[in-house]
Amino acid sequence: MGKIIVNGGNRLNGEVNISGAKNAILPILAATIIGGNESTLFNVPNLRDVEIMVKILNSLGCRVKYMEDIMWIDSKPLNKVEIPEELVREMRSSIIFMGAMLSRIGEVKISYPGGCEIGPRPIDLHLKALRELGAEIEESHGFIHCRTKGLIGTEIQLDYPSVGATENIILAGVGAKGTTIIRNAAREPEIIDLQTYLNCAGAKIKGAGTSVITIEGVDKLIDVNHNTMPDRIVAGTFMVASAITEGEIIIKNVIIDHLQAISAKLREAGCLIYTDEKSLKIIGPKKINPIEMIQTLPYPGFPTDMQAQIMALLSIGTGTSIISETVFENRFKHAEELIRMGANIKTFGRIAVIKGVKELTGAKTTAKDLRGGAALVLAGLAAKGETIVENVYHIKRGYENFHLDLKKLGADIKFIKA
Ligand code: UD1
Repeated sequence: MGKIIVNGGNRLNGEVNISGAKNAILPILAATIIGGNESTLFNVPNLRDVEIMVKILNSLGCRVKYMEDIMWIDSKPLNKVEIPEELVREMRSSIIFMGAMLSRIGEVKISYPGGCEIGPRPIDLHLKALRELGAEIEESHGFIHCRTKGLIGTEIQLDYPSVGATENIILAGVGAKGTTIIRNAAREPEIIDLQTYLNCAGAKIKGAGTSVITIEGVDKLIDVNHNTMPDRIVAGTFMVASAITEGEIIIKNVIIDHLQAISAKLREAGCLIYTDEKSLKIIGPKKINPIEMIQTLPYPGFPTDMQAQIMALLSIGTGTSIISETVFENRFKHAEELIRMGANIKTFGRIAVIKGVKELTGAKTTAKDLRGGAALVLAGLAAKGETIVENVYHIKRGYENFHLDLKKLGADIKFIKA
């Protein structure tokens, strides 16, 4: 399992390079199976979730080679319809294979997904959309069995701009006959990256990044090279690391536009942020201003994946802050761990009220999910004394070298294998 031990109090200083985005590469890895073609992917982050995707690709019969941050996939030999249950349970994003498998071979069998424990996270929107595209779906004994004699493009109105459902529909739409239109699509930048990858392979998709996406089905995809976009949430996490330690960090390989909502809130907290074309410098304030209201929202609103990290920051603000979590139902598990470190936080359903305290004190804490785990490490950077964060495997799902990068920036931090 492993744990991270941080001795708080060091000001972070230096440069950090941001890796490829987890939430971009996961759907792209699913997309690699659609065409029976070869894909060479660059800037692939070395993460536990990526490892699981590779295991799924291997189990389906695909050939995968992975060296440093380059991955090569040949999906021609794919010869299975079932995604192994133990892998699906480990990673919710594996449901993204549904659309891709229907496109490729018209059939997929998958168990109900696992993933972070942050609310019920249903998949009704995915299933409804795939049915509208002509898939027959049978749900029994915890398994979902989808089959089709050929998907047919149609207009799909999403009740909510779900990221995963939007991606699943795109993947299904590529192999469908005719045109699929998604209305109220999610507008996350990772969906643009998926569109870029697929269009380079010969797909005909337009509109990603807006709420209407059009996919014209194609018969064939060709070999493709793709450079994964940088991870805006990892970048945001390092921005908070600077903010919480009164640090001065240069963050390289970022897309500034993707960080606007995060930057706006960190400026409100008192940070100075200077941007360049592909990098930014963030200087943490002496005193952290409270923030009257942060509401998590679909992109371009404030990302739910940054909610835990900003909560850690506001817990040592000079007043009271309020966070409203509108995306997920049960995403405040890190609050109780921050309270163990001396934070004054009260949660009421989807609202958290954070009364800033003068200082946090090191404590033994447990990561309950990916971003919550990162938030505890951030809190530890500012806390007095030693903070232990257990269950680091959650953090490894989404951060490549978290403790090493923080160490290079001057943190007193180590990872201990269990
Ligand atoms: C993706 C991201 C995740 C991020 C989230 C929101 C990946 C791999 N993961 O997750 O890091 O936190 O977007 O930005 O890209 N919902 C339904 N029915 C559905 C689908 C979703 O009710 O069929 C609900 C969910 O329970 C949740 C909300 O919609 O409350 C948002 O979920 P969604 O946008 O689908 O997130 P994911 O794609 O799972």
